[in-house]
Amino acid sequence: MTALLEVERLSVAFGGLAALSEVCLTLAEGTVTAVIGPNGAGKTTLLNAITGYVRPQSGRVIIEGRAVTGLPPFAIARRGLRRTFQNGGAFNDMSVLENILLGADKALRSPFFGILFGFPGARRAERQAVAEARAMLARAGIRGLEETRARELSFGQQRLVEISRALLSRPRILLLDEPAVGLSESEREELRQRLRGLAGEGIAVLLVEHVVDLVMAVSDRVLVLNSGQVLAAGTPLEVRSDPAVLEAYLGSA
Ligand SMILES: Nc1ncnc2c1ncn2[C@@H]1O[C@H](COP(=O)(O)OP(=O)(O)OP(=O)(O)O)[C@@H](O)[C@H]1O
Ligand SMILES: [Mg+2]
Repeated sequence: MTALLEVERLSVAFGGLAALSEVCLTLAEGTVTAVIGPNGAGKTTLLNAITGYVRPQSGRVIIEGRAVTGLPPFAIARRGLRRTFQNGGAFNDMSVLENILLGADKALRSPFFGILFGFPGARRAERQAVAEARAMLARAGIRGLEETRARELSFGQQRLVEISRALLSRPRILLLDEPAVGLSESEREELRQRLRGLAGEGIAVLLVEHVVDLVMAVSDRVLVLNSGQVLAAGTPLEVRSDPAVLEAYLGSA
């Protein structure tokens, strides 16, 4: 299996606080990897350091063999990596379709300005972007809601909209920060199926998640963080039976 993302001994400090200490992680093509750990363990910091929102103190982030450590978020995104945010959510007053189109590459988005200034070819590019967005919605199972305001959707549908937005530029790597928060059991099941479907298309998914049942059901590998350090890594079964993990995290879940 090809490694799409490699994280080598990544450390992040906030003042005197070691938020991440020498964390290593590999995301292979077509797999779902979960990162779990208690509040404050460093899960979001890991996503932030990978995606360029936080500057690592040391260590390397490598996408398809090329180091991207320290690059700004847009430059890292351009290498085929997209993310969602922990408290992100959909833009409530925009329609579902508009929400998805925000995920378009600059190259796809610029046609909107092109139309404004009457550049030829702009309309065709716009139609293409809209067609892609509609296809993405159909694949996420939210067909027919294109013109609905995001605030009228269920939590689960909003999560699927965010994920569809992240997918619009066809990333090879997708990072999700607690997408199952507030979802019903059936919505979690839909999310599980969606994530497995994405892995089936070859995407490497990194899932930060508190919902242990979902993690166990969807992941190929699990990384357990505690106080910024890797406490355990392995298959869901291996991690579930690791005594250190039971004590630090799962035991209390
Ligand atoms: N920008 C920042 N400045 C200072 N400290 C920060 C910053 N971001 C995170 N921290 C601290 O780093 C540690 C890790 O935080 P982080 O948000 O990564 O945890 P988490 O595992 O995502 O937690 P949660 O499950 O609550 O989302 C915490 O002690 C947090 O207070
Ligand atoms: Mg977090």
